[in-house]
Amino acid sequence: MSDPKNILITGAAGFIGSNFAHWVAEHEPDVRMVVLDALTYAGNKDNLAGIPEGRLEFVCGDICDALLVDGLASRVDAIVHFAAESHNDNSIADPAPFVRTNVQGTYTLLEAARKHDLRFHHISTDEVYGDLALDDPARFTEETPYRPSSPYSSTKASSDMLVRAWHRTYGIDATISNCSNNYGPRQHIEKFIPRQITSILSGIRPKLYGDGLNVRDWIHTEDHSSAVWAILTGGRAGETYLIGADGERNNLEVLSVILEAMGQAPDAFDWVRDRPGHDRRYAIDPSKLRRELGWEPIHTSFAEGLAETIAWYDSNRSWWQASKEAVEAKYARSGQ
Ligand code: NAD
Ligand code: DAU
Repeated sequence: MSDPKNILITGAAGFIGSNFAHWVAEHEPDVRMVVLDALTYAGNKDNLAGIPEGRLEFVCGDICDALLVDGLASRVDAIVHFAAESHNDNSIADPAPFVRTNVQGTYTLLEAARKHDLRFHHISTDEVYGDLALDDPARFTEETPYRPSSPYSSTKASSDMLVRAWHRTYGIDATISNCSNNYGPRQHIEKFIPRQITSILSGIRPKLYGDGLNVRDWIHTEDHSSAVWAILTGGRAGETYLIGADGERNNLEVLSVILEAMGQAPDAFDWVRDRPGHDRRYAIDPSKLRRELGWEPIHTSFAEGLAETIAWYDSNRSWWQASKEAVEAKYARSGQ
């Protein structure tokens, strides 16, 4: 058990980290946050707007900057590490920043946690386990062997290995969570769900990779936040916890819900080139998290969560409109 009152959150200007910071601001009134974020193309300081001053200090900087990280680590009692290069398609086009941020950055933070004896929670992904066949009844568990497919997932797997080694060798009070696909407000429009929503809002036809049958296990990002808090405060040192909310759906099904909710015809989309090495199916067995920490998701209706997400992109057009053209131009260059 840990009871952190001052936490360093990396990558909280991005999608999941910012939703976590809002969750902490709302649910944990005694906790003070320091956010370290390099504000890459995926980071937006406005994502933290609304969190009262005095609850959160924002520092623009790189998690690979050991001096900066050391100074911040000396002022907190825990690190919650979200910062990463996070998009598979980008990692296929240019893996270099993924190796640097995801591996070197995690190493830098672990060294600071070791020096200052901090609680360390590492945010990882179900993609470290590779993929499952569509007709396989199995789901990923904490015992599933690592088998990452993409440059992105292999760097996340590498970072998990560093965390495990720093726990075993140096005794760092570390935990890891591997979560499935998140959806909700403030997700970058390069990702599947926001790309399709913002395309429809812009008069562009949505794009489906391959045969559209790849399965992802969707969870609302607010449920990811509550799970991370449960693990940070109640998780056992050295343990891994899988986070998922029984949300398996194939991409065609997800797009169909979006098209219907936005008043489009069921066939109002284009088939495009498949992603090289495209993982077929992810599926999480979250039994350990539920059993040990009593965690339960609150967003149990995917249709409702998606409708709220569509409404958020519709009423926050200034958040995404300026980048839409460039994101689509980049996809067009790769035939997607
Ligand atoms: P994101 O791309 O939206 O945000 C990443 C944030 O990290 C950005 O604010 C960016 O500016 C920051 N960042 C990148 N490089 C940095 C560096 N060198 N130093 C400091 N800050 C840096 O990502 P996301 O989707 O919010 O994912 C957050 C974490 O959750 C990642 O570790 C990702 O692997 C993991 N994850 C994501 C999902 C998902 O569905 N999106 C699911 C499971 C796990
Ligand atoms: O499983 C967790 C992972 O989920 C996280 O670790 C990653 O950070 C996160 O980006 C996400 O990875 P995916 O590759 O599953 O997400 P993405 O949104 O890129 O794609 C979801 C699915 O939709 C995937 O099968 C590819 C497909 N797709 C994607 C885009 C952008 C399309 O069919 N069309 C598209 O335009």
